[in-house]
Amino acid sequence: MAAACPPLLLAALLLAAAAATSALTDDVLALVVFKTGVSDPSGRLATWTEDDDRPCSWPGVGCDARTGRVTSLSLPAASLSGRLPPALLRLDALLSLALPRNNLSGPVLPNLLAALPRLRSLDLSSNRLAAPVPAQLFAQCRYIRAISLAHNQLSGYIPPAVTSCASLVSLNLSSNRLAGPIPDGLWSLPSLRSLDLSGNELSGSVPGGFPRSSSLRQVDLSRNLLAGEIPADVGEAALLKSLDFGHNLFTGGLPESLRRLTGLQFLGAGGNALAGELPAWIGEMRALERLDLSGNRFAGDISYTIANCKNLVEVDLSRNALTGELPWWVFGLPLQRVSVAGNQLHGWVKVPEDAAMALRVLDLSRNAFSGEIPSRITAFAGLQSLNLSSNSLSGQLPAGIGGMRLLEVLDVSANRLDGTVPPEIGGAVALRDLRMGRNSLTGGIPAQIGNCSSLVALDLSHNSLTGPIPSTMGNLTSLQVVNLSQNKLNGTLPVELSNLPSLHIFDVSHNMLTGDLPNSRFFNNIPDSFVMDNSGLCSSRKNDSCSAVMPKPIVLNPNSSSNPSSQATSSAPSNKHHKKIILSISTLIAIAGGAAIAIGVITISVLNRRVRARAAASRSAPATALSDDYLSQSPENDASSGKLVMFGKGSPEFSAGGHALLNKDCELGRGGFGAVYKTVLRDGQPVAIKKLTVSSLVKSKDDFERQVKMLSKVRHHNIVALRGFYWTSSLQLLIYDYLPGGNLHKQLHECTEDNSLSWMERFDIILGVARGLTYLHQHGIIHYNLKSSNVLLDSNGEPKVGDYGLAKLLPMLDRYVLSSKIQSSLGYMAPEFACKTVKITEKCDVYGFGVLVLEVLTGRRPVEYLEDDVVVLCDLVRSTLEEGRPEDCIDPRLCGEFPMDEALPIIKLGLVCTSQVPSNRPDMGEVVSILELVRSPQDSAEEELV
Ligand SMILES: *[C@@H]1O[C@H](CO)[C@@H](O)[C@H](O)[C@H]1NC(C)=O
Ligand SMILES: *[C@@H]1O[C@H](CO)[C@@H](O)[C@H](O)[C@H]1NC(C)=O
Ligand SMILES: *[C@@H]1O[C@H](CO)[C@@H](O)[C@H](O)[C@H]1NC(C)=O
Ligand SMILES: *[C@@H]1O[C@H](CO)[C@@H](O)[C@H](O)[C@H]1NC(C)=O
Ligand SMILES: *[C@@H]1O[C@H](CO)[C@@H](O)[C@H](O)[C@H]1NC(C)=O
Repeated sequence: MAAACPPLLLAALLLAAAAATSALTDDVLALVVFKTGVSDPSGRLATWTEDDDRPCSWPGVGCDARTGRVTSLSLPAASLSGRLPPALLRLDALLSLALPRNNLSGPVLPNLLAALPRLRSLDLSSNRLAAPVPAQLFAQCRYIRAISLAHNQLSGYIPPAVTSCASLVSLNLSSNRLAGPIPDGLWSLPSLRSLDLSGNELSGSVPGGFPRSSSLRQVDLSRNLLAGEIPADVGEAALLKSLDFGHNLFTGGLPESLRRLTGLQFLGAGGNALAGELPAWIGEMRALERLDLSGNRFAGDISYTIANCKNLVEVDLSRNALTGELPWWVFGLPLQRVSVAGNQLHGWVKVPEDAAMALRVLDLSRNAFSGEIPSRITAFAGLQSLNLSSNSLSGQLPAGIGGMRLLEVLDVSANRLDGTVPPEIGGAVALRDLRMGRNSLTGGIPAQIGNCSSLVALDLSHNSLTGPIPSTMGNLTSLQVVNLSQNKLNGTLPVELSNLPSLHIFDVSHNMLTGDLPNSRFFNNIPDSFVMDNSGLCSSRKNDSCSAVMPKPIVLNPNSSSNPSSQATSSAPSNKHHKKIILSISTLIAIAGGAAIAIGVITISVLNRRVRARAAASRSAPATALSDDYLSQSPENDASSGKLVMFGKGSPEFSAGGHALLNKDCELGRGGFGAVYKTVLRDGQPVAIKKLTVSSLVKSKDDFERQVKMLSKVRHHNIVALRGFYWTSSLQLLIYDYLPGGNLHKQLHECTEDNSLSWMERFDIILGVARGLTYLHQHGIIHYNLKSSNVLLDSNGEPKVGDYGLAKLLPMLDRYVLSSKIQSSLGYMAPEFACKTVKITEKCDVYGFGVLVLEVLTGRRPVEYLEDDVVVLCDLVRSTLEEGRPEDCIDPRLCGEFPMDEALPIIKLGLVCTSQVPSNRPDMGEVVSILELVRSPQDSAEEELV
């Protein structure tokens, strides 16, 4: 209604109405007109209506009980906007007008004080009032006591007439755009207690003339452009409690008159250009609680007399040119916050035995303190922030730090600390910001860091830290900024880091990290600069970066491999060259797990024939279920009932009186998925039993059975047949045909010239493996783990591919787990394993096959660790070929007895199969066709047997 009418018209109507109904007083009229003059989007004035002639009950309105006149109008934070309505001027009985924190604009009404002669208090702070303060405003101001126009956009000079407002007690013009000088005579206002002119653009020098009789308690001139010296007689205003000259352009020293201010509680003079020594008389200002002299040019020693200020709570002497040692009173007074940062203090940081324990914030950074960090400092249980950065402190961070339950900020960066990061740090549960960068710290990052659950920022950069990044860091869900760059960290980035929701900086550049980045939005978009210069961190963001930048990182040291048989005669001198060894943590874990099993002896006894018989009778399928005992030396294993299933023919019992011994003596080998043992079934048939070591990862029994039964259907001349399986929740065995001829790896790398494979045998092996893989791919099975030690040879030297499809037994096809299992494949792993963005297809087997082809042709390992280089076989062959020396690629043990017209196309085929980009590799069917073409016609006839 009001919004629809033009305010002036409405006002005229109201005035007419008022004339008619004399019940309305002038005050009601003025208020209603005020209401029409401002915009009131939140309806605070909704109940102000002309129908109601009792304005004293309206919100925000106060009256004199006797006269009924409106004496106060108080509408703080009422969202009122528009210009200050002149209707206010009709409320001539007002004592107090308070409209702070609204949205009022326009100029201050020039005759505001003149029209409201009884006004004692005016508060228009925090509005959007603009324009210069009208000089007229203070023309008649005899009764006004408090004026606040703070936090507006007022400009111009402070009208000198303000010095005529003799009753003024408080003047607050802070945070405007006032310029020019502070008017002379302001200090003489007899009642003035509080003056706040801070946050303007006042310039010139501050006038003197502080009278002895001054009532001043508080003067804030901070954040202006005031220059010259601090007035020499400021100390005459003896009642001063708070004096702030901070952040101006003052020069000279602290005026000596200040020493008389024995009631002064706050002295602020920071951020000026004050110079000279800190006067000894500071100690005479005994009531001082806060002292800020930071950011000046004070020099010399810190006077010990400051200790006389027994109430000091906060002292900031930072960023001066102070010298000498740290004064004892820093720890001795009931001080809570002390900063002496950015001076030239030196010597040891000594904490006296009788230290008062009040400190909450201590900043000694950027000085020349030396010696060790005193362990007694950790006794300050209330310390929240400790900054010792940029000094020359040495030794170890005291372990007592873990007892500091309130410590939020610890900065010891840029010192000479040479200890470790103490594991006790995990006790400092309130830590938000931990900075230990730029020291000489050694050792690992303690896993206990994961207990610092409040951590937001962590900087351990520029040290000599070794070992892995602990996975417990994944618990630090508040982490935003992490800098671990310039260390010697190794291993892979823990997948747990992908849990960190707020991370926005994670710099691990210049370390020795390897492997894939965790999968999260942050890590998928991580800038290269955060991961650069590592042994092999793969930024999965760009499809090509993995292949282009690092074909080598997915390669491991052969001697660390899970194929112990390859070690015996290994000629690779890698153990002499530790620097070259790139080993992931996950591999270490896999190996450690393997070792534990080797020590144990596992006995499977087949008992309870009745159950078996019943089960056999109840099934038409040849599978046989039985219950048995699973015993081992580890006591926690209960006698759980398991299930042994044999496919097709074959005795469901192990020999040796119903016992099969899976022990070290019978061990045939060891792979990423488990160890393989030889044993004999009761009917005398030898079998190879693979004991899966990834039991905790294996799927549910049903999934396991389904997958294994799928694999059991695989029947091919070049595939090792799966005969059966055994399942309990804690033990899974796969039973395969036993092949007496050993594996291809042994044949290639552990045989002498005399009994090494002939050209024909090598060709047959390549073709056989290709046919086996083709068959697998045709049946929807990806091998995932092709390598020469998984190619077994039967008594006729026919190759049979083993260990296929096991990755599918994992609960999910997790690349992390997968690559950690398959990393033991020593260079057979396709580059896309390191790239999250590329889907893994059968083409990863083609890559492995390509490597195998080159391995068979050259007789060399896929990766060799030499004196000062890592030789990757496909790179070597490629360059040898490019140099036009294909014959140099062929195994010298063949003594030149090979047809070059067969060898050359196979070398090229191997190289094509090892293309970095999966789509550039042929599929296995094509590979078989090519191989059959290469082979001369008379040979190929006999191959058709398959
Ligand atoms: C203040 O008023 C201006 C227009 O005069 C408007 O844009 C702004 O949103 C208002 N602010 C508040 C907090 O009401
Ligand atoms: C001046 O007013 C501002 C804004 O209301 C306030 O923050 C400040 O404390 C006041 N100054 C004094 C000395 O009261
Ligand atoms: C510690 O002090 C230095 C230098 O005075 C400063 O740059 C750094 O930000 C401070 N550390 C923290 C955690 O505030
Ligand atoms: C912290 O992380 C570790 C391993 O990452 C985990 O085992 C542990 O339960 C986590 N602790 C908490 C409190 O989340
Ligand atoms: C990391 O480096 C240490 C030596 O500093 C070594 O003992 C360890 O095996 C390495 N770990 C990995 C996963 O490479």
